[in-house]
Amino acid sequence: MSDEGMQMTASYADRLAVVMGAGSGIGAALAERLAAEGATVVATDIDAARIGDVVERMVADGGRAFARTVDVADAASVDALAEELFAEHDHVDLLINNAGLQTAGPVWEADPARWEQMMRVNIDGVFHGIRFFVPRMLATGRPATVVNLSSVGGAAIVPFQSSYVASKHAVLALTECLHQELQLVGAPIQVSVVLPSYVRTRIFVDAQRVAPTGNDLAAAYFDRMEQIGQEQGKSPAEAAAAILAGVAGGDFWVFTDDAAGQRVLTLRAEQLAGLRRPPDARPRLREMGLDV
Ligand SMILES: NC(=O)c1ccc[n+]([C@@H]2O[C@H](COP(=O)([O-])OP(=O)(O)OC[C@H]3O[C@@H](n4cnc5c(N)ncnc54)[C@H](O)[C@@H]3O)[C@@H](O)[C@H]2O)c1
Repeated sequence: MSDEGMQMTASYADRLAVVMGAGSGIGAALAERLAAEGATVVATDIDAARIGDVVERMVADGGRAFARTVDVADAASVDALAEELFAEHDHVDLLINNAGLQTAGPVWEADPARWEQMMRVNIDGVFHGIRFFVPRMLATGRPATVVNLSSVGGAAIVPFQSSYVASKHAVLALTECLHQELQLVGAPIQVSVVLPSYVRTRIFVDAQRVAPTGNDLAAAYFDRMEQIGQEQGKSPAEAAAAILAGVAGGDFWVFTDDAAGQRVLTLRAEQLAGLRRPPDARPRLREMGLDV
């Protein structure tokens, strides 16, 4: 989706791209597509086995790709990656802060340790990418791009995903601040925020496997979300194609489904401008077949 008549579509050929959380889902598909378009890709994930498999596949397909095990929640881990890459290559053209976690359950039942982990990965992870890559990008004076993964849940208000929704609203806000601040210093750095709709990944299943909610309604809601995602969601490859097209076109707002993304933003804008209470979630939950 275009905005403010931005620059012409950029090419990823011969760019150096870093993708965080590239061991699965959207991140893996972004890394694979970037490599297919001729970028050199540094694919990172906290899960060494996952990222090893993804990079092995990319290299077998003829791509230039490297695996690094990075925990985005750990400042030292992200700093070490940035240090290594700028020492070796003098620049990084594209940073995609994609790593993220989901969790089900009402906010008052949230496990404090999981809550903290959600904030550390989903918000601090993005902050660490910005903190360690942007100053080095600025020092090169070269054009670069920073892409942060929020979600349609970064603008919508939905129940039983409070830590996720709060963290993704934060990612959206901090990405807008980053855009504004880089503009103020005249930096040649493009900033984009991605608000994906359903994409068929393991994120819901992993959330319930690692940090299951004990709340029956929240668990049923999450199961339905997972099911709807599998039935109606885009494939990671389709999502990656949409995201990279938007980013290459210079867009700030990037969606995997333009209509759904714009609908969510419009509803949010109307709710805020009308000083309305958060929407009643019951009709939507009933539509999903839940007994509320
Ligand atoms: N799948 C969707 O429907 C959807 C919708 C909206 C937004 N998103 C967002 O897109 C991004 C990717 O989600 P996905 O669905 O592909 O998830 P996924 O679970 O398939 O992949 C996420 C990857 O991040 C990695 N990761 C987790 N913690 C990490 C850490 N501390 N450091 C580094 N890597 C870490 C995981 O190991 C995994 O490989 C997330 O930010 C998510 O919130 C997804």
